[in-house]
Amino acid sequence: MSQLELIPQHDTFVAECRGVNWSKPISKEVKDQVQKAMDKYGVLIFRNTGLDDKRHIAFAALFGELDDMSPHLKVGRKLRLPDVEMFDVSNIDPDDNLITTSDPARIAMMKGNALWHSDLAFNSRRSGYSILRGHQLPPKGTGGDTEFLDARQAYDDLPQEMKQKIDGLVGNNSMWHNRKLAAPDYYKDLEPLDYPMSKHKMVTNHPATGRKMLFTPTYVHHIDGMSFEDSQALVKQLLDHASQPKYICRVEWLQDGDMIMWDNTAVMHRAVYDGSYFGKYRRDMRRTTSFDMGPEAHGLNDPNKTVRQGLNPVLTDKIVEPEVKVPAIKA
Ligand SMILES: [Fe+2]
Repeated sequence: MSQLELIPQHDTFVAECRGVNWSKPISKEVKDQVQKAMDKYGVLIFRNTGLDDKRHIAFAALFGELDDMSPHLKVGRKLRLPDVEMFDVSNIDPDDNLITTSDPARIAMMKGNALWHSDLAFNSRRSGYSILRGHQLPPKGTGGDTEFLDARQAYDDLPQEMKQKIDGLVGNNSMWHNRKLAAPDYYKDLEPLDYPMSKHKMVTNHPATGRKMLFTPTYVHHIDGMSFEDSQALVKQLLDHASQPKYICRVEWLQDGDMIMWDNTAVMHRAVYDGSYFGKYRRDMRRTTSFDMGPEAHGLNDPNKTVRQGLNPVLTDKIVEPEVKVPAIKA
């Protein structure tokens, strides 16, 4: 059995993984090695895979049940990519036009991805693995890196008092809160409490290793039993800690076909918008997302009642989301 080669990119997490033969179906042995490496590193980089969408999806499906875009289709959203399992993370609209700064609604949505998050944590069932492939990258040197933070190590290093303070705290996760943080002017009239939120603990255990992580994405609007202001102060304090340079690894996309796999139950990530590609060059990124298959996947949400956020066509000025209104919290 051939061994994969793992080249660490950071002291505590992230490795480049070499030795997968992408031209053949992935064997169980290789899948098991990748899984084991993911449990250790939380992020794996596969360079120059040459994968197309179908094979990318087939690889992702080895690691758990895949989330998909079919709920978006049901509410009338037009998708650019033909496979519903493929999440479109590009700067290209469904009609294949480059998104520009003249489209403030789309820009506001994309800015939210530049804040620390765990993919789809605003849904009632959170994600496990995200696998993002650069289908068509912008020219080298025009930006678009991705940053990861080791939310396990960041938790381990917290002072004991803080660990005790946050043990058992429950965050209410809202996609709109994140978008409003990212684009406050654009969303000044939007009240996140008018939309559904999903409850996940702010310290969770990794389903395979049991390691704890700080699960404090910028989706957390308020914490059960705390005011909005106190909640935001605590989330900021925790994110300030977790986003110290020593916990961060920045990954550069080098060529089309590069693929990064990360574990949303171990790390958080953000897009880096310091580049000049935006509005000029296509950056066609495609992502599969599997559900967390572990016991904390549904957080404190009813596992029989799925809540999906972001089903509205994000690209209209009018935000329509056919969901229940959640009660306002008391200050
Ligand atoms: Fe993301």
